[in-house]
Amino acid sequence: MSETLERWGSKRAFILAVTGAAVGLGNIWRFPYVAGENGGAAFLLIYVAFVLLLGIPVMMAEILIGRAGRRGPIQALGALAAQAGASPNWRWLGLFGALTVFCILSFYSVVSGWSIEFLVASINGQFNGASAAEIGAGFETFLANPGLLIFNHSLFLFMTMTVVAAGVSKGLERLNNLLMPLLYALLLLLAVYAATTDGFSTALAWLFLPSFDALTPTVVLHAMGHAFFTLAVGACALMAYGAYMPEEQSLPKAAFAVAALDISVALLAGIAIFSVVFAQGMDPAEGPGLMFVTLPIAFSELPGGAIWLSVFFLLLLLATWTSAINLAEPMVATLQGLGLRRSISTAIVAFSVWLMGLLSAFSFSTLAEFRPLFGRNIFELVSSIPPDVFLPLGGLLIATFAAWVMPHNAAVSALGMGERGYRLWRNIVRWVSIPLTFIVLLGGLL
Ligand code: TRP
Repeated sequence: MSETLERWGSKRAFILAVTGAAVGLGNIWRFPYVAGENGGAAFLLIYVAFVLLLGIPVMMAEILIGRAGRRGPIQALGALAAQAGASPNWRWLGLFGALTVFCILSFYSVVSGWSIEFLVASINGQFNGASAAEIGAGFETFLANPGLLIFNHSLFLFMTMTVVAAGVSKGLERLNNLLMPLLYALLLLLAVYAATTDGFSTALAWLFLPSFDALTPTVVLHAMGHAFFTLAVGACALMAYGAYMPEEQSLPKAAFAVAALDISVALLAGIAIFSVVFAQGMDPAEGPGLMFVTLPIAFSELPGGAIWLSVFFLLLLLATWTSAINLAEPMVATLQGLGLRRSISTAIVAFSVWLMGLLSAFSFSTLAEFRPLFGRNIFELVSSIPPDVFLPLGGLLIATFAAWVMPHNAAVSALGMGERGYRLWRNIVRWVSIPLTFIVLLGGLL
């Protein structure tokens, strides 16, 4: 059994690591544009409900399995299934998780690369004095240049995989600890700025006054997928982190803390971004470019805007970095579990994710019209199907394993809430989270 795996030094380190995994592009980039495409407030309301009803309980299930198994996902699932006298095939759930994060990381790295490009551009003052139209056009030109996208994608993946190869170090934990509050403060500042724009009240109404006219099963499915995505749940990635969780830590407290932080970051980003959208008369359903166009516009009007914009992209990069490390971990742990060395496992993962990412990078130019499935190109496919379908499916199986299959005593002690707390959690997972995920998944797919 490979024992080269990480250990979190303290309770705080664990919460930080999970928060680092949760807070990322999902909150600041994906939430606003997916909400924008799916009607705003109704989407927000359903997504928050899903975080509470599914996200948190399933997150607990996932970490619980890792903590009880104390190894990589495949081995942990295999060992616990054996202990419970259940089918050894449960361990393939770990492989499914690895496949899911593979697809996600391939586009995640490309989009994180955009932040690198924008960081450099804003340091160079390229947005100074530019009009909204110019900034929008600049983004289009950037996307149409696959060489540039690939360069930044490679750089980001290199940053990520170097840390993963070395092991998720104390250094990164500390950096995270220091910089996450800064990112938060900056988002607050942006939201305050947003309150001074003409778009603010429209943005608030749009985000918080739901109208259920446009509500379809697909919107509900997107909201559920996003709840899993933003919490980093459903791909055995938190299972991998849970394996190194300190004995004495309270699992529910950690899960609630992470979820609260995660939602509030998304809300702040949403308020800031949509205020600018409405102030500039832009379209909220603009798609993946939304944040990359609105924020430079907003900052270009603020005093010292170029500096703040640079700081913002730097912090965003950091947030995506810690998320990407979490996305890579289950794949590396899986290969390690098959007996490969950590360095070799990391190299294999890095190379295959890099290759897959090329398809996303070309999806904005050469391959834009290559639509192999559902009329969507590769970027559109990998940024929607794995989050909306694979994560809920993975979460469903993880929850089923934790609440129905796992040996009782192992589950009670890994959850750390005593017998009564355990039963409460198990009832929620059994009778709310699992059926709800199943119904929404089925409804959204049909
Ligand atoms: N939650 C991260 C974000 O919002 C993305 C992420 C990190 C993730 N690790 C994950 C998504 C594991 C699914 C599974 O940016």
